[in-house]
Amino acid sequence: MEYTKTNAETIDRWIDEGWEWGVPIDHETYLQALDGNWQIKLTPIKPVPRRWCGDLRGKRVLGLAAGGGQQMPILTAAGAICTVLDYSEKQLESEQLVASQEGYEIDIVRADMTKLFPFADSTFDLIVHPVSNCYIRDVTHVWAECARVLKPGGLLLAGLDNGFNYLFFDEDESHVTGSLPFDPLEDPAKMAMLQKEDAGVQFSHSIEEQIGGQLRAGFRLLDVYDDTNGSGFLCEHGVPCFWATLARLYKPTSPIGGPGHSDRLSTCRDEQDPFFVKE
Ligand SMILES: C[S@@+](CC[C@H](N)C(=O)[O-])C[C@H]1O[C@@H](n2cnc3c(N)ncnc32)[C@H](O)[C@@H]1O
Repeated sequence: MEYTKTNAETIDRWIDEGWEWGVPIDHETYLQALDGNWQIKLTPIKPVPRRWCGDLRGKRVLGLAAGGGQQMPILTAAGAICTVLDYSEKQLESEQLVASQEGYEIDIVRADMTKLFPFADSTFDLIVHPVSNCYIRDVTHVWAECARVLKPGGLLLAGLDNGFNYLFFDEDESHVTGSLPFDPLEDPAKMAMLQKEDAGVQFSHSIEEQIGGQLRAGFRLLDVYDDTNGSGFLCEHGVPCFWATLARLYKPTSPIGGPGHSDRLSTCRDEQDPFFVKE
């Protein structure tokens, strides 16, 4: 079986067991969001700064691997037109449940993010991608597909696992038991560690893959913050195991090297960017 299918089945099982990232928001939280009181997360603890999302009214938002009824209902309440892509049937069921209960429309798409995304070029204004690419091996593909389906100047908000957690597989996290990179498809001992914990098939990714990959796909980094696991030994020692990034897509106005191409790839002017700092 493809490892991504194994992960989808594993996550469905975790949801039955009450997995935190599969618990949809409640009615009161949705009502608060309609009133303008809301936050979303990309990583375990810290909320995304509201300025990262800007004015969402009428914006087309893709929740990439964001099923579960956590981010999408909030962004819908804030005025966005949302599409969610996820590979877990249960996460998508929760997404539909919240939408039906609260009476809004959402496009729900079951797809594997390791394949071509089932959307036309330049469809979305904003992509919200909570921590999830630890469940796939090649993140370069994801950044390329994000760049394809975003409109020029579109924003990518991503939660990223920086791999530190894969060093600590013992119960109290106080000893290094693993090594990086963590690729269970290359190393049967690592696969055995995951299987022992019913942890699906997970991968570490370096800063080169996570942030370098975004930059090489045509994104420009606008802001960043780090976050912890929220509990446990590493958290108590302030180890930031996660990063969140805000990046803007700069698409060429004409093909690179073609007539009219300039090295300034921007179709949106730096000066218009709320994060732009003049040097
Ligand atoms: C930590 S959860 C993130 C969603 C959650 N709503 C949140 O608040 O963080 C990770 C998500 O990635 C999804 N996922 C894992 N592998 C995937 C794949 N290959 N394609 C699409 N989604 C995937 C899972 O089904 C799960 O919903």
